Amino acid sequence: MAGGEVLLVDLVKRFGDFTAVDGINLDMPSGEFFSMLGPSGCGKTTTLRMIAGFERPSEGQILLDGVDMAQTPPHKRNVNTVFQSYALFPHMTVEENVAFGLRYKGATKQETKQRVGTAMELVQLTGFEKRLPSKLSGGQQQRVALARALVLNPAVLLLDEPLGALDAKLRKRLQVELKALQEEVGITFVYVTHDQEEALTMSDRIAVMSQGRVEQVGTPTEIYEEPATAYVADFLGVSNLMEAVASGAGEGGCRVALGEFSLVAGKGNADTAGPSKVTIRPERVDLEPQGTTGANRIPGMVERVVYVGSVLHIYVNLAPGTRIQVWTQNDAGAQAPFVSGQAVVAYLPQDALRVLPDAGTPVLVGAEIESA
Ligand SMILES: Nc1ncnc2c1ncn2[C@@H]1O[C@H](COP(=O)(O)OP(=O)(O)OP(=O)(O)O)[C@@H](O)[C@H]1O
Ligand SMILES: [Mg+2]
Repeated sequence: MAGGEVLLVDLVKRFGDFTAVDGINLDMPSGEFFSMLGPSGCGKTTTLRMIAGFERPSEGQILLDGVDMAQTPPHKRNVNTVFQSYALFPHMTVEENVAFGLRYKGATKQETKQRVGTAMELVQLTGFEKRLPSKLSGGQQQRVALARALVLNPAVLLLDEPLGALDAKLRKRLQVELKALQEEVGITFVYVTHDQEEALTMSDRIAVMSQGRVEQVGTPTEIYEEPATAYVADFLGVSNLMEAVASGAGEGGCRVALGEFSLVAGKGNADTAGPSKVTIRPERVDLEPQGTTGANRIPGMVERVVYVGSVLHIYVNLAPGTRIQVWTQNDAGAQAPFVSGQAVVAYLPQDALRVLPDAGTPVLVGAEIESA
């Protein structure tokens, strides 16, 4: 039995009269790569520090494999943390850094050697045992920090933006390595990041957070394809969020009005009523010639066409006063299909249009124009 299930129950943390964590309920099963994703200040680190025991909850419970951790000090919890700043001891070799925590576990010399060897192998640093941290690259230092945490055989590894200090290319590589490592050791990883791509790449499940609360929990596919709120859709970069008024179920979905235009949103809760948002991916919108008629179509005008290699990003002002972004393939040799100022009709297919409840979360309306 592997263990390592983390359960957060109505977890609250206040600093004075500021509430940093505002009633979080999460179940992170044993062996899962679980990410907490959200913008700066949403309470990710605070939550992690409470799981680690560095911070005491104001309310609620933290259960590790069913046991309430309230009375358990940090060093007695079967949990280890990797921070963004690796905090390696500069005067100790890699090997000594990795072995450090074992001193306090009463490990024999023989056992220490064996466990350090295994941990070094896991993070692919065999051969670097005698080096000082200052003689390592950022990525290698990060792996030493990982080995130092893994050598203690925790049931849960907490990682707070561990790749934040690395350049984009190295980050990408270590994301893949970290995921492989997690699968190999099979322990629970609780990973904190504000980088949506990072979370989507590595996680089994993701909790999207906003202002101390959880907006949605799901697999990467679920939160990307089926965002529950306008906030999640916006945060995950699903552009084209439009203000709408929903009026409940109709043929094939929820009836929504964008200004004077009536459409049907085939995705989301068909019974949604009242002020809401509708969302559609840029690649799912089709532009048709002016005058085209049919369901789920709104006239508009091309504002700007941006060439992005194989794809064209076309910004269109729709008649209800909303700007959307449309992506189409840039067919080699073909004439530029659209020019700015051109009148068009935007087709928003029913099966691609999602209605979202308006939770009062401020969201970007329409697409941001990219600077040329
Ligand atoms: N010791 C503290 N005293 C007062 N306020 C705090 C304290 N620690 C954190 N906060 C506040 O709680 C909120 C959440 O902080 P937290 O560090 O958890 O955010 P975060 O999601 O990790 O953000 P980031 O992505 O910037 O690291 C912030 O507004 C922060 O200013
Ligand atoms: Mg943080």
